Amino acid sequence: MTTDSPRPSAPATFDPTSDDEWAALRALGHRMLDDMFDAQQGLATTPVWQALPSEKQALFQQAGPEEGVGPATAYEQFRSHILPYGLGNWHPRFFGWVQGNGTPLGMLADMLASGMNPHLGGFNQAPAMVERQVIGWFADWFGMPGASGLFVTGGTMANTHAIACARVALGSRQGRNVRMDGVQGWPSASPPSPMVFYGSKETHGWAYKAAEWLGLGTRAFRTVPVLADFTIDVVALSRMIADDRAAGLTPFCVIGTAGTVNTGATDDLVGLADLCAHEQLWFHVDGAFGALAALSPLTREIVRGMDRADSVAFDLHKWGSMPFECACVLVKDPVVHHTAFRNSASYLSAGDRGPTAGGMYFNERGLDLTRSFKALKVWMQLQADGVERLGRVIAQNVLQVRHLVARIDAHPELERLAPAPLNIVCFRYVPTSVDLTAAEHDTLNAELLARLQEGGVVLPSSTRIGGAFALRVAHVNHRSVDADMDLLIDTVVETGRLIIAQR
Ligand SMILES: Cc1ncc(COP(=O)(O)O)c(C=O)c1O
Repeated sequence: MTTDSPRPSAPATFDPTSDDEWAALRALGHRMLDDMFDAQQGLATTPVWQALPSEKQALFQQAGPEEGVGPATAYEQFRSHILPYGLGNWHPRFFGWVQGNGTPLGMLADMLASGMNPHLGGFNQAPAMVERQVIGWFADWFGMPGASGLFVTGGTMANTHAIACARVALGSRQGRNVRMDGVQGWPSASPPSPMVFYGSKETHGWAYKAAEWLGLGTRAFRTVPVLADFTIDVVALSRMIADDRAAGLTPFCVIGTAGTVNTGATDDLVGLADLCAHEQLWFHVDGAFGALAALSPLTREIVRGMDRADSVAFDLHKWGSMPFECACVLVKDPVVHHTAFRNSASYLSAGDRGPTAGGMYFNERGLDLTRSFKALKVWMQLQADGVERLGRVIAQNVLQVRHLVARIDAHPELERLAPAPLNIVCFRYVPTSVDLTAAEHDTLNAELLARLQEGGVVLPSSTRIGGAFALRVAHVNHRSVDADMDLLIDTVVETGRLIIAQR
């Protein structure tokens, strides 16, 4: 392997060590920036996804380098082996799972944050003020002024932090110290009543992970049936709570989802808020993407009642379009939030003056001590464009999905499999020329999906609705234009017809 700048006796630092080296790295950095802008500007003309050719895979099987190759060569490897072979979620015709695109300004802000590299455990520093400010903005926009909050990696972490708060809050009300004794009540001779929490069967799988991680066990997560529109059956929930109490269990929290992952359904948040108030349960809203519906007049009504939640989890790396990883949890009562996570260590104690004045407040709101400056990209994007632009992107996506729905419903070879109240639509190709069994419909649509994903023109993902295999479009794409939605429908129909013709 050749090295582009051998430095046999260079001092041990990762910085360039001469003016020439700084100049070379600066030029490389400018090139990286230009390449990335070129790539982003030209996305529409590239495949959404393409497989990494086998001959290029060897790079990722090499042993760890003893000697470096230098930044220019390392960058060339990125350009040729990595850049063209990502998942494609930055592309205007990516509609899979629920994955945001990122934004050019967000990318630049991440560079600034990495360059500055502040430690967001807390501290008396401007970056921490930025995070507090952005948390405050969203708390205001969601109708929870004064809420505490924390930026975390993703929706799974944000939701799990909220359930941890709920668990501690209930413990406090019952005189149980869940943090010290754990949920099994150690060292009590008679184990306390098991704590249980609720969400609809459409709740995202993070709830199971959280149940395991918080020591509750997945049996503690009680799944509630849904109504025909895939929203939680509040009456059934109320019965389940009563039955569980009668059986000696201790309900402590109800999850309402704003925008379910399968169909984009939003639970009756007002009904859940009323029930939780009546039952004295913590009301948590998983608004991973749907919470942001509050930012557009077109969709605001859908999340009515979210402001009554004790906690809300939302992602800015989904419908907020921020580069990964960028999520946030809001907890209405700052005291509860801090009670759930407060920790002390002499080496982290707050001072009266200087950088430690104020202490490690973010460390006391969640698991992480060392935290990156995630809030900067959100702050910069919002400073640059205002929340009004974000609301417009959300409305645009919803209107584009409504257009998709209209085309699907009007097309004899397409069948919609669920209501599409927000930004997700589930449908399938149903040929009119042949009669297929349910299993054959599934096989046909699975083949269709694989061809779409490998074809590189449009990239939806899939789910099952009522047992049937569905093509699933989850639209949080700020880059899509209306023509992309038409291309999606046309490509699905064309591919479906081709598969039938080839049978
Ligand atoms: C409703 C919902 N909740 C939680 C999550 C998990 O979020 P993350 O992937 O950021 O951990 C998702 C992911 O799609 C989701 O759609």
